[in-house]
Amino acid sequence: MQLNTLVAALGLFAPASALLRFGCASLTVQRLDPLVNPGQIPSTHLHQIIGGNSFNVTMEPGKHDLVAKSSCTTCQFSEDFSNYWTATLFFRARNGSFKRVPQIPQQGIESTRGGMMVYYMSDALFDTAQKSKVTAFKPGFRMLVGDATIRTREQARKFRQLTYICMESQASRAPEYIGFPPKPCAGGIMANHLFPTCWNGKDLDTPNHQDHVSYPEVGTFESGGACPSTHPVKIPQLMLETVWDTRPFNNKADWPEDGSQPFVWSSGDKTGFSSHADYLFGWKDDSLQKAMDAHCYVSCPTLKTQSITQQNKCLVNDMVKEPLDGWLDKLPGDNMVY
Ligand SMILES: *[C@@H]1O[C@H](CO)[C@@H](O)[C@H](O)[C@H]1NC(C)=O
Ligand SMILES: *[C@@H]1O[C@H](CO)[C@@H](O)[C@H](O)[C@H]1NC(C)=O
Repeated sequence: MQLNTLVAALGLFAPASALLRFGCASLTVQRLDPLVNPGQIPSTHLHQIIGGNSFNVTMEPGKHDLVAKSSCTTCQFSEDFSNYWTATLFFRARNGSFKRVPQIPQQGIESTRGGMMVYYMSDALFDTAQKSKVTAFKPGFRMLVGDATIRTREQARKFRQLTYICMESQASRAPEYIGFPPKPCAGGIMANHLFPTCWNGKDLDTPNHQDHVSYPEVGTFESGGACPSTHPVKIPQLMLETVWDTRPFNNKADWPEDGSQPFVWSSGDKTGFSSHADYLFGWKDDSLQKAMDAHCYVSCPTLKTQSITQQNKCLVNDMVKEPLDGWLDKLPGDNMVY
């Protein structure tokens, strides 16, 4: 669906809203995690990473200035040197071999090399007004949503809005699954990551990378739920969309004989309940706050943009050397599938 069609379908009209929606190409795919496993090379499981090219094995809190250390970003908004990452998806064949699932750039940004669609919102995507005041993240801010170790629906309830869409077409946005869709998806699988929207106003990070942020106390971000008194500062709703191109793997004859679905996260999770995403804030100066205050929609005149060709040129070197392509007899890191 073209963006204009999406806008019309959602009933959203420019310019009375503060909602950013922009594509970011793939920066690198590596077994690194400077948030959860800083200094560890390689980290426990493979990630796909977008954003500024200061991404590295270690990004020391308070010292690593993502803006100063980056010379380019894979994001359309060229003042965004943040890093965003998720696990990567693999197909597991009946013989136990694995193949990495490629990504599909969304409509309108087809020439983007892999990557994700990023949103920052003042109010629910479906709210036409986007009137709420939000406080942009501060330099050094980091957070993690989801948990790579969980495997049950019950455990996954702790996190809201970490969902999958079994895409019939590029326009599909429903229904949402909490685990991997149980059937072949004609248009691929979209993974949605929505981060918490309330901040304690003090800590840029906490040991588990989660306690300084919270979901609304009652209701949801979508219903305008208030932040709890422990986390009173309303921050933008950060949302990531990744479309995994599962189409080449849709032949049920290649799926497990027990009727289960064949996709696994790079962590070894075959349930999908361990969906997680990491964020290291890195917007230049107060460009994000200005954009959120500007009541702009999708593309903000206060922000500088670059072409997809420029986005695609931004890369970081492979710091972990290991095979990622073709048929692999084990997941990178030899993670057990369960
Ligand atoms: C990563 O960090 C190392 C050590 O500080 C540095 O030598 C290297 O240039 C950095 N890599 C990138 C891509 O910035
Ligand atoms: C495993 O199965 C896949 C898909 O059928 C096939 O392409 C691959 O060659 C097989 N690998 C081995 C080691 O048999």
